[in-house]
Amino acid sequence: MSGGIAAYKVCELLRRLTESGHDVTVVPTSSALEFVGAATWAALSGRPVSSEVWTDVHAVPHVRIGQDADLVVVAPATADLMARAAHGLADDLLTNTLLTASCPVVFAPAMHTEMWEHPATVANVATLRGRGAVVIEPAEGRLTGKDTGKGRLPEASEIFDIAMDVLSRGVSRPDLAGRHVVVSAGGTREYLDPVRFLGNRSSGLQGYALARVAAARGAEVTLVAANVSLPDPAGVKVVTVETTAELHDAVVTAAASADAVVMAAAPADFRPTVVSEDKIKKADDGTSPVIELEQNPDILREISHRRLHEGSVIVGFAAETGDSQGSVLELGRAKLTRKGCDLLVVNDVSGGAVFGSPDNEAVILGADGTSVDVPRGTKAALAQVIWDEVARRFAGDLAR
Ligand code: CTP
Repeated sequence: MSGGIAAYKVCELLRRLTESGHDVTVVPTSSALEFVGAATWAALSGRPVSSEVWTDVHAVPHVRIGQDADLVVVAPATADLMARAAHGLADDLLTNTLLTASCPVVFAPAMHTEMWEHPATVANVATLRGRGAVVIEPAEGRLTGKDTGKGRLPEASEIFDIAMDVLSRGVSRPDLAGRHVVVSAGGTREYLDPVRFLGNRSSGLQGYALARVAAARGAEVTLVAANVSLPDPAGVKVVTVETTAELHDAVVTAAASADAVVMAAAPADFRPTVVSEDKIKKADDGTSPVIELEQNPDILREISHRRLHEGSVIVGFAAETGDSQGSVLELGRAKLTRKGCDLLVVNDVSGGAVFGSPDNEAVILGADGTSVDVPRGTKAALAQVIWDEVARRFAGDLAR
């Protein structure tokens, strides 16, 4: 940790890391301790805390901590800390640790917008990324004081998810750099009246994992989010929608310049033919209203058939349970053909296990006949394999 007011948010990150079974050594700079004291970090991590190299010298902490680490996460990473790291300075325990660590390093920057945009910081971030470090894009929003802008520390859950991705997979190459990708997430709502709607159980977790992983792999990401209550992934453009018609318009607009579109959202297939302007009242005679529905556009099918951007890769999801018409995979193959997309991620949702769960498992079917089994794991792990398949198609490794 370096010395930023956002240090207080790192208490939550530390809890998530320790509660998920990781051993965490907190290495604050002396200015970090001006914001949150050593006692808090020692109590939360269950380990001694020091910011300089002269404590416990016999244990040689200035090399041991970095050498032993599987991952270093610097949060908050100030402009000053990233400058010192970029130039290889080693004037305290944290910068010594960064020089001796051969594991992946994730920086979660937090600073004022002017500092983030200053050419010196821009150059330092480029240097760190060029050496293979992951520098997360800061979030936008309220900064210290009254000003707002880019520079907020990303949410603890966001930093945690990125740290877990990097731990499980190592630092990924920015193989999606220069690509614009669109991801839809969440579930749409179709209003019956001003207060009631038809909706579904989609949490948006899989779509958000896809957006976050694509951003980490260097893509410019547009995330079209339908009724999702998750923090915006860092460095991602988020467009919020409610209904399938709004989702349709947002996806079609973004798809015009997109190299890939992944439809992870669950759009309602039907909407009420008439939306009552007033709240629908109970009838005195005990009769129930009959609600007539009409069909919504099939967005995946439309963008697959229209191909708004030449050479784009289009990915759909299929939640299947299997029935008398066929097995989950047979239904998936039929849906792939019907929709006309390049890849279809088929989930077996018998029992409803995937909704809201952090885990998922799937088979990714390709229009070219390929089939990739992804065993049960995190939604981020599935997102990585989906982007691998998309990247292979960008590279022309596979005929589409
Ligand atoms: N989808 C879409 N537009 C819709 C409905 C679905 O773009 N109006 C997309 C979803 O985002 C998903 C894929 O289509 O990527 C499959 O959704 P699913 O609900 O399984 O497909 P349906 O067309 O509803 O098929 P079914 O006949 O099984 O209901």
